[in-house]
Amino acid sequence: MKPFFMKALSVVALGCALVSPSFADEPIVIKFSHVVASDTPKGKGADLFKKLAEEKFPGRVKVETYPNSSLYGDGKEMEALLTGNVQMLAPSLAKFSKYQKKIQIFDLPFLFEDIAAVEKFQISDKGKELLNSMRDKGIIGLAYWNNDVKHMSANKPLRKPSDARGLKFRVQASDVLDAQFKRLTAIPRKMAFAEVYQGLQSGVVDGTENPYSNVYSQKMHEVQKYITETGHAPLGYMVITSDKFWSGLPDDIRKGLEEILADVTVKVNQEAQALNQREKDRIIKAGTTEILTLTDAEKDEWRKAMVPVWKKFEGEIGTDLIEAAQKSNN
Ligand code: LMR
Repeated sequence: MKPFFMKALSVVALGCALVSPSFADEPIVIKFSHVVASDTPKGKGADLFKKLAEEKFPGRVKVETYPNSSLYGDGKEMEALLTGNVQMLAPSLAKFSKYQKKIQIFDLPFLFEDIAAVEKFQISDKGKELLNSMRDKGIIGLAYWNNDVKHMSANKPLRKPSDARGLKFRVQASDVLDAQFKRLTAIPRKMAFAEVYQGLQSGVVDGTENPYSNVYSQKMHEVQKYITETGHAPLGYMVITSDKFWSGLPDDIRKGLEEILADVTVKVNQEAQALNQREKDRIIKAGTTEILTLTDAEKDEWRKAMVPVWKKFEGEIGTDLIEAAQKSNN
């Protein structure tokens, strides 16, 4: 049996823990993990969210950003969100198919004519529905952030779809992207973003697809001799949190963070294309990589080669959604 004074001590300690001002004043910590560099549209968005959230809720909210897969990389980050080890992520839209097949729409090659069409679709009712479509899995979509369109790169010039034949391409964990490269009789390899540079350098893969900001910030241009401006699909993100975390926040904080996110989203989407142009210029200046532009007729060949991918995924995505996306092109 514990001596009386020990029991008394434990009771006092417990009381202190419950009312201790330092405990009560602990800020809410939001770990925001992502896989890209800080000087990219997503990296800048995460950092701006941190700045504005901490300014609005001093001492109450602390946001820790973890760029470059430094906390969790592809494959592990969603699991980390659902187990409460991180509170916010912004995976690319290609990485959601395990949770919501309809989000595959964003990867259908040559569906959206440009980023303006992507944004128009995202703010439509159908686009907004997708943000809310994973609640049953415990995931809440808070916003869409867009990077830019993807271009193909390789160590040989890709002018015609048949130039990709037999080449190994790194793809994100997406069945649509896997099918896209198979249509080109190329060999897709699903690979985490953090491994792409190494994969290209060592020759595990010959080529890949990404917007300029990711190419430059990961130094892919150092190991890719050619980039073809295919611009065949967007690279966008869904900013997500877990239902458990978000609904457990005090109302004023949740509402305040949602307002901040709306402002950050406008800024990210406004600045993304200029940032990609800056990185394109830097790649040209580096002199390592030749940028190939396609004539309308050449682009049409790529479109014809890749469009049959739509058929394969029409059932999972839904023709209604594809039609709505097409309407956003006008
Ligand atoms: C990729 O894996 O290529 C991209 O999704 C990385 C990113 O988040 O921009």
